[in-house]
Amino acid sequence: MTSASEKLPRQPRCILITGGAGFIGSNFVHHWCNNYPEDRVVVLDALTYAGNYKNLAPLAGHKNFRFVQGDICNRPMVEALFKEEPIDTVAHFAAESHVDRSILGPDAFVRTNVVGTFTLLDSFRHHWEHQGALENFRFLHVSTDEVYGSLGPDDAGFSETTPYAPNSPYSASKAGSDHLARAYYHTYGMPTLITNCSNNYGPYHFPEKLIPLMCINILLGKSLPVYGDGQNIRDWLYVEDHCRALDVVINQGQPGETYNIGGNNEVKNIDLVNKLCELMNELAPELPVRPAQELITFVKDRPGHDRRYAIDASKIQTELGWTPAETVEGGLRRTIEWYLTHRDWWQPLLSEEYQAYYQKVYA
Ligand code: NAD
Ligand code: DAU
Repeated sequence: MTSASEKLPRQPRCILITGGAGFIGSNFVHHWCNNYPEDRVVVLDALTYAGNYKNLAPLAGHKNFRFVQGDICNRPMVEALFKEEPIDTVAHFAAESHVDRSILGPDAFVRTNVVGTFTLLDSFRHHWEHQGALENFRFLHVSTDEVYGSLGPDDAGFSETTPYAPNSPYSASKAGSDHLARAYYHTYGMPTLITNCSNNYGPYHFPEKLIPLMCINILLGKSLPVYGDGQNIRDWLYVEDHCRALDVVINQGQPGETYNIGGNNEVKNIDLVNKLCELMNELAPELPVRPAQELITFVKDRPGHDRRYAIDASKIQTELGWTPAETVEGGLRRTIEWYLTHRDWWQPLLSEEYQAYYQKVYA
């Protein structure tokens, strides 16, 4: 018999990671494989413009790792995967994730984020019920702080009870998917967990987002487009800290609960861009334009641009013991070093398709 003070050995999981070839998903796949080598990891990713198999290349050939290229909206394929693999855990990252693209073309956001999440939830429900509704099953739905809308300068940070008020097609589609994940717990008792996280940054971040876009433009000597007056505020979290938070939510979180995750690092966009310029001036051996600050250009604002996001992460801190470890200064240095040493990763992403997108947003 095991006494209460003795820890039972951890049971290996078989985890399906959707969107595992994207930015946060691929960081999470590496985190999981490094920390739980005994687990089976199945990645399902459609490899859209934002997905990159190279992010996972070091894992190819590992006996506990499988990559499946496929669309989460394809129900027969998703159901077949649940039959083929002994999956007990889903970490659902797959999404259309960029606000500016959701303004240009919202259709794909509703399809993947709402219909795709529904397809996964419902297929997992059948699988879970078929297996006898086992208690160790988990469905983690990875979401965003943007579902809560925009804060005023003196408002408290978003907590798990802040009412939803999404402002962009992206955040509205994520809000819809959060409500579905919540409903599957309340209606069917399916063990779903929801996380709402602030802005991430770090390795494998696609060039369209603020931090990689600025790093790459500085290296290429291109202008640094700051939307509006540059006074919008985001709460930045190093991606490794986010992965650790999701790990504790899967392993220790209470099914049916939501956990907000944030870096406690509120920064104005213009201050962040200036900091990136400063660090690039210091760390990059050669720059086409030096000091890089000369490249800063204020451009037309994003329509409906949320002014401020901030997270109150006290629930995950007190209940699950998670706190962010990385500072903004340290995280930005690590990120810049990564972009400096991984030109072969980001250069091919500046494709004709990407240039066409860039023209549409910034022309
Ligand atoms: P990303 O755009 O970098 O990656 C998305 C991944 O999903 C890509 O690999 C893409 O190929 C895949 N994908 C897209 N549509 C698919 C489909 N129909 N079927 C299968 N795969 C599909 O996104 P990210 O920044 O890594 O974000 C991951 C998740 O985290 C998203 O759900 C996003 O809403 C959420 N999130 C992101 C941030 C952030 O700062 N990036 C913050 C909080 C929450
Ligand atoms: O808050 C979490 C969200 O963070 C995630 O849910 C999204 O998936 C992720 O893309 C991110 O959304 P943002 O819109 O906050 O991130 P983005 O990097 O696009 O922009 C950050 C801020 O910088 C925002 O205020 C807009 C501004 N910006 C962005 C770009 C691309 C600029 O000023 N210029 C730019 O060129």
